[in-house]
Amino acid sequence: MSHRILFIASEVQPWIKTGGLADVAGALPKALAALGHDVRVLLPAYGDILAGEQSLRPVHRFRAPAGFEDWQLLTPRRRTDGIRLWLASGPGFSDRRGSPYLDEHGQDWPDNAVRFNAFCRIATALASGRAGTVWRPHVVHCNDWQTGLVPVWMQQRRVPAASIFTVHNLNYHGRFEPQTLHRLGLPSYLWHADALEFYGDLSFIKGGLVFADMLTTVSPTYAEEICTPARGEGLDGLLRHRREDLVGILNGIDPDEWDPRSDPHLPANFSVQDLAGKRQTKQHLQQALGLEVAADMPLLVMISRLVPQKGVDLVLQALPDLLNRGAVQLAVLGSGESALEQRLRDLASAYPGRVAVQIGFDEALAHRLEAAADLFLMPSRFEPCGLNQLYSLRYGTPPVVHRCGGLADSVVDVTAAPAAGTGFVFDQQTPEALGAAIEHALALFRQPQAWRQLQARGMNADFGWKRSARAYVEVYEAAMTRLART
Ligand code: ADP
Ligand code: GLC
Repeated sequence: MSHRILFIASEVQPWIKTGGLADVAGALPKALAALGHDVRVLLPAYGDILAGEQSLRPVHRFRAPAGFEDWQLLTPRRRTDGIRLWLASGPGFSDRRGSPYLDEHGQDWPDNAVRFNAFCRIATALASGRAGTVWRPHVVHCNDWQTGLVPVWMQQRRVPAASIFTVHNLNYHGRFEPQTLHRLGLPSYLWHADALEFYGDLSFIKGGLVFADMLTTVSPTYAEEICTPARGEGLDGLLRHRREDLVGILNGIDPDEWDPRSDPHLPANFSVQDLAGKRQTKQHLQQALGLEVAADMPLLVMISRLVPQKGVDLVLQALPDLLNRGAVQLAVLGSGESALEQRLRDLASAYPGRVAVQIGFDEALAHRLEAAADLFLMPSRFEPCGLNQLYSLRYGTPPVVHRCGGLADSVVDVTAAPAAGTGFVFDQQTPEALGAAIEHALALFRQPQAWRQLQARGMNADFGWKRSARAYVEVYEAAMTRLART
């Protein structure tokens, strides 16, 4: 059976991206459409999108809800991959440039509650067919806190569609001062620990976790982890209560974006049969980044938001020993907290020719680094799914990962399983454990045949979206059944 699905996210590749949510919101709707479903994606029309895109045309001007007369729906003239993309243009989004979430000082936009609530109300109006549009979804799929109030407003407005809420990162709650509840026009009875209140504040993510018909998160292991006090961010009690409604589904790779055989960002393409292009890309990148050009020097790479989650501090502690011995090179691409940015810059100055650090967001360079590297570092404290380890597997770059979340579900430790392993997995989140895992990797790197087999297993692993998209459809159907019963 074909379902009508409204997929709502605050970032969607290739329109706007700060992290993996955009990759998922770009790829999963395409995979669902390929299974025969009618999918529409709703994204805020940020100023940066409007500035860069001439081909948007208005499809609808909102008459409801009241007070939203400034809002309109835009759509690109070209329809790609069977998806209709809708961009909601309105105050707080279209009249502002820069990050979707942060101002120029790296602080949350002060009106985040108001603007994302407005986005949620527009989404609800679309889902209800009360906004003047004809199309009505069977299922509304919300993602992360920015969309957390959609299931709340859907219940308020009695919208006859099932709702799904996907947790991409439980660390971000969308938490605001208590007066926000009334400011957003939400009724007082929602001020309750079983509804939107979280330790005296208003929590957007609780809207999704309490009111959506079904919950998902982006890997089976993370689904287990967030039900424990250690990883539940204060929400584990609620998640344990809803454990039967919570499903962990691993993210996939979008082959249109990430395929070393056709990736347009690479100076040379390559495949599992012929890795010559990978060697050329490494040489090209060593030159471009000011690293010593040396084919047999192991090149370690990290591409990351620079936040405590990602374990950058472990890299900063573990690497000097290896660098002092001239055992490795390191290239880092990332942006985020200024203290971490500075420590990385300092590392680069201390090891000229051996460490290259690029601060910023650079999609093309991210692809080249994945392709050029010998090892990919992902020592995350926690990782709901992680996409970079999947990309590195596909690009013949075995990952070194901490055993948690989606990293545990996607990388097989070659030290424990020599014939099946795809990377290096360590258990203790310490610099010593990371250092030891890198040493294991370097020992194997010096055995070309074994290394080649390790690369091949990763490159051949199936991380397509098809299987995961089917799992989402099962969740949609469970949610619809549940809705029909109420
Ligand atoms: P998260 O969503 O927690 O940041 P993921 O591994 O799921 O982690 O996804 C990160 C995505 O963002 C990947 O596609 C990665 O390549 C990309 N990315 C992260 N930092 C940068 C950067 N500085 N420049 C380019 N791409 C980046
Ligand atoms: C979040 C998580 C990351 C996940 C991504 C997409 O940003 O931190 O692990 O891969 O969302 O689901």
